[in-house]
Amino acid sequence: MRIVILGSGGRLGAALMREYRERYDIAGVDRTQVDLASLDDVRGKLGGLNFDLLINAAAFTNVDACETQRDRAFLINAQAPGVLAEICNEKHAKLIHFSTDYVFDGEKRAPYTEEDRADPISFYGESKRAGEKRVIGAGNEHVVVRVSWVFGPDRPSFIDAMIKRAQQEEKIDAVSDKFSTPTYTDDIAKMLPNLFDRGAEGGILHFANAGKCSWQEYAQCALDCCRDNGIPLKARTVGALTLRDMSSWVARRPVYSVLSTAKYMELTGTLPRAWREAVADYITRCYSKK
Ligand SMILES: NC(=O)c1ccc[n+]([C@@H]2O[C@H](COP(=O)([O-])OP(=O)(O)OC[C@H]3O[C@@H](n4cnc5c(N)ncnc54)[C@H](OP(=O)(O)O)[C@@H]3O)[C@@H](O)[C@H]2O)c1
Repeated sequence: MRIVILGSGGRLGAALMREYRERYDIAGVDRTQVDLASLDDVRGKLGGLNFDLLINAAAFTNVDACETQRDRAFLINAQAPGVLAEICNEKHAKLIHFSTDYVFDGEKRAPYTEEDRADPISFYGESKRAGEKRVIGAGNEHVVVRVSWVFGPDRPSFIDAMIKRAQQEEKIDAVSDKFSTPTYTDDIAKMLPNLFDRGAEGGILHFANAGKCSWQEYAQCALDCCRDNGIPLKARTVGALTLRDMSSWVARRPVYSVLSTAKYMELTGTLPRAWREAVADYITRCYSKK
């Protein structure tokens, strides 16, 4: 199976590259090779490649910047995925496209299923939702995988920022009234081949590590794991902030965006591991040796 991964230098794309390099005929494409903001570039360059599966891990992911650069966000997150789906159709290839828990408005208080109405409250969410519709609308076998709070070793995220702050400062804090589930890029990379088969059902699929937490609980877990691994920190506990304190944010974020993985479990017969276990694994593997 020939696979092309877009966004191969990103947090998720780089993890997919590492996981699949030995097992598949794989090519990574980064922004310098194909710019998703240029649809002609996308058509011209990807049209010339040979593949059976295209994985799109590229996106305009800065939630606040999307709010102020709406045309660019729509181009990269909505129009480009539509073109990718068309190219895949022409090549009889399958598209796996990543999306986000931020397509939901956050008003629910139980895990969001694939059938729940997506009603974004930010332009990032809106552009990603528009991309989902274009991908799903283009072909029955294409898959949209929604993930949440992605972390991994290839690009720093919230958890790394918290650890860094705890190494430098005695008091740190994080938002305590916003809930979803951290998801480890390695776990996404391990589960994704379940969807590679072209005969497999297309549509939307949620994937996240199991459980739910606030950013404060997430950061506290990271600090506890560092302590268990003998990694020296100045801060021991994470204080509570509220969403109201985040006056620098431009975009609104959903208060609750836990993704239900019931469909994934039904499809594969496997459970994603708990987010605390994934965080502990990440810190042991990526911080202990530093
Ligand atoms: N991070 C999260 O917490 C999170 C949560 C939910 C869903 N997701 C989704 O998961 C997917 C992967 O996200 P991630 O965390 O890996 O994000 P990331 O680290 O920001 O990676 C995004 C990738 O897209 C590339 N890219 C951006 N603009 C591009 C353009 N115009 N042309 C070509 N490539 C471009 C980036 O290239 P550069 O390195 O050159 O910028 C980068 O390689 C995205 O679909 C995102 O919406 C992420």
